[in-house]
This record gives sequence, structure tokens and C-alpha cells, in this order.
Amino acid sequence: MTTTPISPSPASPSLIATLPGRYYTDPEVFRQEQEKVFESLWFCAVRGADLAKPGAFRTVQVGRENVVITRTRTGELRAFLNVCRHRGARLCTEASGEVRRSLQCPYHAWTYDLDGRLIAAPNLIKMPDVDRVEYGLIKVALREWLGYAWVCLADEPPSFEDTVVHAAVERLGDAAAIGHYGTERLALGRRVTYDVRANWKLIVENFMECYHCATIHPELTEVLPEFADGYAAQYYVGHGAEFGEEIKGFTVDGGAGFAKLPEVTADQDRRYYAITVKPTVFVNLVPDHVILHRMFPLAEDRTVVECDWLYAPEVVASGADVSKSVELFHRVNVQDFEACERTQPAMSSRAYRRGGVLVPNEHHIGIFHAWLLDLLGDSHA
Ligand code: FES
Ligand SMILES: [Fe+2]
Repeated sequence: MTTTPISPSPASPSLIATLPGRYYTDPEVFRQEQEKVFESLWFCAVRGADLAKPGAFRTVQVGRENVVITRTRTGELRAFLNVCRHRGARLCTEASGEVRRSLQCPYHAWTYDLDGRLIAAPNLIKMPDVDRVEYGLIKVALREWLGYAWVCLADEPPSFEDTVVHAAVERLGDAAAIGHYGTERLALGRRVTYDVRANWKLIVENFMECYHCATIHPELTEVLPEFADGYAAQYYVGHGAEFGEEIKGFTVDGGAGFAKLPEVTADQDRRYYAITVKPTVFVNLVPDHVILHRMFPLAEDRTVVECDWLYAPEVVASGADVSKSVELFHRVNVQDFEACERTQPAMSSRAYRRGGVLVPNEHHIGIFHAWLLDLLGDSHA
């Protein structure tokens, strides 16, 4: 690809350069990202509990590929390229569904079991030489973590521990810390899907900094007063932003939430921790719930974000009203995504041709940019 270097360091040492505007607008950059980021790294695709029963399936766009994830008769999750091996029709055309035992292509009825083997096709009996495994669906690597299925399209997936789990260890400064929230055992209290007209990187950058918190997040800075200073929970390793003195819970009005999750420690109580699991996941930890964002970058200027609010199973089972805590981060999401949408059109302005600048409490975003440029094989100069 063309390798326009990012703009030279600004004159003031307080400021470092962002990526140039075209990284947010150029379809060719997005295509490179699909190949070298979304199709090469582990991509958080679905929540396991969304595929509760054998035969349940979901389809997800991962880079340029469509992937179908199923639950087998024996209860495991499997992922396949959503392409029929006969003449290439898309096998599952719905975003989600449920089959009894098999996935049948709607074109000529080639039929695959939930492990991907070809089990039936018109006249297959007359073609005994056809190997049912060889002409089975193409498998995609899958790992489960935090209750979600992460898939990787690479022929040789990178280490899941080093590239995914490590993000939480590095952020929290402690390998055991995320486990105390028992995220994989939590139940879904609410899901909100946002269709954001902005490049996925603007959403990542926004999540990584809190320089904007005082300006656009009045409810959040009320609950987490230190966010008003602009130093996000992600600036300091191991640091979680402390609730304000009068604040009882992570709710829109600071009123009480639910009992803290059983293994959350005294150090973690009354604090908010944020983790960016590159490329597309944000994890937000508070004592009584976990908020997990998954991004689905669909174009250089469009990203769907699915946000799950997860609570102790007994909270959800009791029918307790979760709306006070949902409302807090829902407002934060709307405020953040509006800011990203306001920024996106300006990325193609002449004013942003060489990019913008990062102030000191945003300098850590430069690490994200360096990570991306490295994956794209672009020069840093
Ligand atoms: S393309 Fe699927 S059965 Fe022919
Ligand atoms: Fe924000």
C-alpha cells in the first residue's frame, strides 16, 4: 500500500502527532485493516450465551469474510466461513437462527452437520468418491473468554494469551484481577446496538482518553470525579477511577446499584476500570456489573457497536430494574459516539491532511497508532 508517513512531530514537545486524516477515510486503508487487523488477530464475535442451544447459529462479518458460529449437539461452539463448498452460496443468510441438526445451503441443498461435515447433498450417494470432511465447511479458529467467542481467520492465529488476555493483565497490572469479576458467569441485563457513522479508530481513541470527559460526560464525571481532570482510568497502569464520596453505585444518579460481585476485592470495590482489548473490544469493570463493547467495523466511516451490560445471574433472574446503571453508560456511549460522528467528516478536510495532535494525557493513544502502523507495515517516520 502507499505509505504516507505520519506527520512530523509538532513543534511543541507537549504535542505528538495523530494519524493523518486519510487513515480514517481512505477505503484502501480500511481494506488493509480488514486484512491485516480484523482477519489476522482474534476478533470478538458473539456472546456464548446467545447460542444457548445446540443448533443455534449467528453470522458475523469479520474483515471481508462472513463467519457462521454454531453450537454443536455436544455443546461446543464452532466457527466456519459462511460459504457453501459446492458453488459458494452464502450458507446462512440470517443474522441468527436455530436449526435442528444441520445447516442446509439454500441453493442446491448441500447439507452440513454442526461440526461442518458434509452429510447430505442431492445425488451424493452416486458420488462415493466425495470426501465429506474435505468438502466440509472451512473451519475458523475459536476461543472462549469472558463468556464470548473470539474467532481468528489467520492460518496461524497469534497467541490468544499474548494478544487478548494480556491486554487485561497489562491494564490492571495483575494477572488475577479480571477474574474477580467472573465475567463469563454473568447474565445479560441489557444490550444496546449503536450504528456509528465514524471510523473504528476514532471510537478506540475516544475510549482511551478522558480529556473529553469534563466537556461531554456530566453524569460520568459526577460519579467518577477524577475523570474531570482528564486522566482516564487507562492512563495509569493498575489504576481504577474511584467513585465520588457521595456516590453509592455506578448509576446515572449515583444511587445504589447491586451487591458487589462475590469475588471483587476490597481494592476493586468502588472503582471503575477500563480495558481496551485491541482491536475491537472495550471492557468496563465496576463492582456490581461489567459493560462490554464489541465493535464491528463495516466501512471506513461506519462501525456498529454492540454494548452488553452484564450482571450477577441472580440480579437478572430476579427481574431487578437495571435501568439506572444501564442509563449511565448508555448516556456515555451516546455522548462518545456523537463526538466521533462530529469528528469523522472533518477527517477528509484539508485542515486534517497531516492529522491533529495529542496532548500529554492523550499521549498513550500514540501507542495504539504505532501498533496499527506496525500491523499495516507502514512507516513511522
Ligand atoms: S452452492 Fe450450496 S448447494 Fe450449491
Ligand atoms: Fe467518553
